[in-house]
Amino acid sequence: MARFIDELKRTHDNNSLRASDIGSEVVLFGWVNNRRDHGSIIFVDLRDREGLTQIVFDPDTAPEAHKQAEALRGEWCIGIKGKVRSRGMQMSKKTGEMVSATNPNLATGEIEVEVMEATVFNRSETPPFELLDKVDTKEEIRLQYRFLDLRRAPLQRALRMRHNLNQAARNYLSEAGCLELETPFLVKYTPGGARNFLVPSRTSAGKFYALAESPQLFKQLFMVAGYEKYFQIVRCFRDEDLRIDRQPEFTQIDIELSFVNQDDIFNLVEGLIFAMWKANGVDLKELYPSGHFPRMDFEESMRLYGNDKPDLRFGMPHVDLTELITQHEGGGIPFFQPIAEKFKNGTYRKDLPAEIIKAMVIPASANFSRADGDKLEKLARGMGAGGLARAKVGASGEWTQSPLAKSITDEMRTAINEACGAKEGDIILFQSGKTSLVHTVMANLRLALGKKLGLIPESGHGDQWNFLWVVNPPLFEYDDDNKRWAAAHHAFTRPFDDHVDLLEKDPGLVQCYRYDLVLNGFEIGGGSVRLHDPDVQARVFRTLGIGDAEAEEKFGFLLKALRYGAPPHGGIAIGMDRVAMLMAGTDSIRDVIAYPKTQKGTDLMTDAPGGVSADQLAELRIASLVSDEG
Ligand code: AMO
Repeated sequence: MARFIDELKRTHDNNSLRASDIGSEVVLFGWVNNRRDHGSIIFVDLRDREGLTQIVFDPDTAPEAHKQAEALRGEWCIGIKGKVRSRGMQMSKKTGEMVSATNPNLATGEIEVEVMEATVFNRSETPPFELLDKVDTKEEIRLQYRFLDLRRAPLQRALRMRHNLNQAARNYLSEAGCLELETPFLVKYTPGGARNFLVPSRTSAGKFYALAESPQLFKQLFMVAGYEKYFQIVRCFRDEDLRIDRQPEFTQIDIELSFVNQDDIFNLVEGLIFAMWKANGVDLKELYPSGHFPRMDFEESMRLYGNDKPDLRFGMPHVDLTELITQHEGGGIPFFQPIAEKFKNGTYRKDLPAEIIKAMVIPASANFSRADGDKLEKLARGMGAGGLARAKVGASGEWTQSPLAKSITDEMRTAINEACGAKEGDIILFQSGKTSLVHTVMANLRLALGKKLGLIPESGHGDQWNFLWVVNPPLFEYDDDNKRWAAAHHAFTRPFDDHVDLLEKDPGLVQCYRYDLVLNGFEIGGGSVRLHDPDVQARVFRTLGIGDAEAEEKFGFLLKALRYGAPPHGGIAIGMDRVAMLMAGTDSIRDVIAYPKTQKGTDLMTDAPGGVSADQLAELRIASLVSDEG
């Protein structure tokens, strides 16, 4: 029988001893955070997931334990039995006077434990990097040794925060009457949406499962089956190109409700977000006394910010000049001319412009230099822009430092200055061309400027929580390349009732009950009220050019289920990893995921994905085109 663990049970964690415990005998377990040899006496900071406790090895009182301590090194896993005592006095290095040895920065800073008996559970090799809060070790190394990286305090905090988020979400949703129900990961491949990971079936050779990109269809089937309110904290899998806020496997808080409208769903989700923030010490009630988040139309969001997830912690909106410049027939600016030409004769339509002209104003107070402007232009070019026209506004509205200044008509210049609200010393930036590119470039420039001008921090939330519902998007978007209508999100979103008549007449004007929840410029959730009416569904498919047979083949089981008394229903999924990332104030989703994948989708610790043997492939009736199957 082992003395420690079997006989001597842990009495406290390393964050709990206080002055009131002085005199008691304790058993502590943990890792050697650091070791200081002060002549004969050895001090160790013993660490566990809760915190640190200073333990002291004295050769006079416990010679055997002291001998063990001489060998101790960082990250060894040990157990001790000892007596709690006051830290007492020590000589100040600065003044030579005797001062209190209490460490006010440590919860256990008033005490130390004088070791009577110790055991080494396990030694540790020297870690490849120091386990400090801030390390400058390359992320690859940290990911290779994730089990050590996870010992660092920021990661411990992040994972504990996720625990709080999970618990708060579960409790809140369960209390709201939602049932936590599970759905399969191995599902049938359906086209559209995110790219799926495929999993070969051994028992049905030559066939494949897809890993579920979300429980979408299954949660809708739960509604058809009468479960009314569902939630699940669920892993989703998408074979997408990765970004700082994207992982190939990520976690959603997935929700679906029956007999609800959009407002009902928003109410539930707002309460959920409040509860999750509260669980991590932030009371959103102070920021949102009504309990509700503001809403913005999708169209307004695109027009003012160039995307559907605006960071509203600062202003600097875009100004769409397309209509104005069309009215002025280009206003003398050669590269605006062709766009104005396209919209001549009143054919300009806000919902359809394939090309647009946008502007953004940098205020004079920013003291933006020419060099700054050149840097910004470089950034724009990096995103695919042809350039970045700009003009500095003079005292009487004239433009300087601008290639546009010579050719622009006076009326056009005055009209643009006015539309932009530009004053002396301001700089106006212009971007024109394909709508999607102009939006993207201007949206990214706005963010870059927000950071450069100190309007938002380089990273993190800066204690600002700017939530926004982006609502009422169009159901369809025009696919200019293929000259047809495509579903803007998916074909199962419910159009506004009074827009149903437009389905055939003017699809571009049909808006729908789809919504995204945005926080500080990140999309943290998205969902919709679903289309449960088979007749309207058929009309939507027709607009998309999807025939009955094709619809049946692609979405057969859902369409079938909707014909069996499907209740009105809708839902949403919140991206848990993004919420955690924003809450932790970090820049990368990887910082809040215990075992994340790299940008290339690899796991450096386990070396996944890995090769498999020819036998394994043969069993699956799969041949590899890659020669090294190793
Ligand atoms: P959607 O595709 O918008 O909706 O996803 C919901 C939320 O999940 C998060 N998210 C991701 N997080 C990390 N890595 C990714 N690769 C990733 N992809 C998405 C985002 C996003 O807002 N079934 C629908 C929901 C519904 O309609 O009810 C869905 O999955 O925060």
